[in-house]
Amino acid sequence: MVSFALHHPARLRRSVLSVPAINPRALQKIHDLDCDAVIFDLEDSVASDRKNEARDNLRRFFAETPLVGRESIIRINALDTDFSAADLDTVLACAPDALLLPKVNEPEDVQIASDFLADSDAPDSLRIWAMMETPRSILNAAAIAEYGRTRDTRLDCFVIGLNDLRKDTGVPAEPGRTYLVPWLMQVLLAARAYGLDVIDSVSNDFKDLQGLEAECRQGRAMGFDGKMLIHPAQIPAANRCFGPADEDLVEARAITAAFADPAAASLNVINSNGRMIERLHLEQAERLLQKAALIENRE
Ligand code: COA
Ligand code: MG
Repeated sequence: MVSFALHHPARLRRSVLSVPAINPRALQKIHDLDCDAVIFDLEDSVASDRKNEARDNLRRFFAETPLVGRESIIRINALDTDFSAADLDTVLACAPDALLLPKVNEPEDVQIASDFLADSDAPDSLRIWAMMETPRSILNAAAIAEYGRTRDTRLDCFVIGLNDLRKDTGVPAEPGRTYLVPWLMQVLLAARAYGLDVIDSVSNDFKDLQGLEAECRQGRAMGFDGKMLIHPAQIPAANRCFGPADEDLVEARAITAAFADPAAASLNVINSNGRMIERLHLEQAERLLQKAALIENRE
């Protein structure tokens, strides 16, 4: 059975769709889409001279037609740009579930954002997500994750950004992501060490659904919770690959049933058809079933 990491209550982040805040048509479209979370982008998909228009679109969207039943995240511009102050005000006005910080390099970047939220009396529920997309973010992944582990610092999730990382490192795009995998796994390990979720990078070729499927499967095999997406057509593959497979559910139910047997009450290890199962597998199985229940309730 494929395992899901046990770091917090189960939640769904299989498909995390980015929507340019400058595009009102796309903003309205997301109400009918089956993604688990939406990133409202004020950063790279919005031209410099249209940032205000994009912020106004978000204020209107959150006031008039807010998303229900899914996480909303606003991606702001990097803290060292002239745009970030107005972006942060937009975040306060919109009150999404999280803000997404791009171009994070070190723990201090998260600290600046969390201090701002604390000073602005933002609700505790407003979390911080961090793009891991600069060479320094990969080198500092453990320190960033460790800094963010407390409730006060609000860090909740890493999102890998390979377009920027490829640009900064010179590693070309290729289907297997061979030379990037060590960095991806380093970020994943750092996230897990400190109880964060971690979302795999976007795939730019939104017409190549076969390539996407392969990349989603690879991301799932590496342990990611989900994938950042750029186009509605990418949602089904991400939901499928990062959600529990039918055979995983069958096995999870068998494990919970085996431990529910009164004969297993005082056992930590049992024999299930020639395979050892331990109580840690029971925890994984229960988590998987919780995720499945979340998916069923959403549908
Ligand atoms: N969210 C919501 N709706 C989207 C969407 C998205 N990310 N991407 C496309 N759509 C909508 C389009 O508005 C269009 O709707 P319409 O038929 O009502 O006009 C429909 O889906 C089909 O879109 P399509 O014609 O296939 O693509 P496009 O040329 O309109 O857009 C992109 C292609 C890449 C420009 C667009 O998908 C996009 O902006 N993606 C997000 C980019 C982003 O956020 N980048 C920053 C993070 S890396
Ligand atoms: Mg980027």
